[in-house]
Amino acid sequence: MRKKIVAGNWKMNTTYPEGETLAGAIAGKTNEVPGDVLLIAAPPFTHLCCLTGALREAGVKVAAQNCAAEAKGAYTGEVSAPMLASIGVEYCIIGHSERREYYGETGDVLRKKVRQALDAGLRPIFCIGEVLAEREAGRHFDVVRTQLEEVIIPLPTSDFEKIIIAYEPVWAIGTGKTATAGQAQEIHAFIRRVLAGKFGDSAGNTAILYGGSCKPSNAAELFAQPDVDGGLIGGASLVADDFIAIANAF
Ligand code: 13P
Repeated sequence: MRKKIVAGNWKMNTTYPEGETLAGAIAGKTNEVPGDVLLIAAPPFTHLCCLTGALREAGVKVAAQNCAAEAKGAYTGEVSAPMLASIGVEYCIIGHSERREYYGETGDVLRKKVRQALDAGLRPIFCIGEVLAEREAGRHFDVVRTQLEEVIIPLPTSDFEKIIIAYEPVWAIGTGKTATAGQAQEIHAFIRRVLAGKFGDSAGNTAILYGGSCKPSNAAELFAQPDVDGGLIGGASLVADDFIAIANAF
């Protein structure tokens, strides 16, 4: 059985006091969520050390939004995977389209980041997805296949089994435009087939999350698709009631 997962990517939102309030509100509502749904929160780096304990006590796993491509050393401003693991962080978002687009993160860099995360014992939430022009040109399948081939397909199966995939069509992120349930299912099934081509049956156990304007009003239809195992939530994860409502949408 695949895990059902709802992960909140807070992005660069909330001051520390605001983040503490949000984490507290989420922690106070986890008892409303069925036990078979795994909740993950990805606050900004500055909040992780202080918030991880309370979130974990409430059953919410904690993710970082990024990690360095190196383990330690003279890399001013970077935060390494071992540092994150040392404070109780268990997951790490890697390859978000905003990192790819604004910080020039390529397949080569992302492969190193995934390696770092795995070596530190973190589970990568690896993001893939096409931009609007690629979707309109019918190239979305090629784009996600390439993104997987660059980083995930070269992994040994034992590492692959720790990976969560997040399919996030860039045209749906923060735009209010969601992929239809049919579009999500079609490409999630394709992603699973690509993974199965290398990893066989293990691909059947991999959680593939949908991200992009997922909210309480559309989550149920998306999550009802056989290859959609949950969501990576941006804006709606900043409102505790919405995040919890999405987690209850399975
Ligand atoms: P929105 O839910 O705000 O569209 O963001 C999705 C996302 O990028 C999650 O990583």
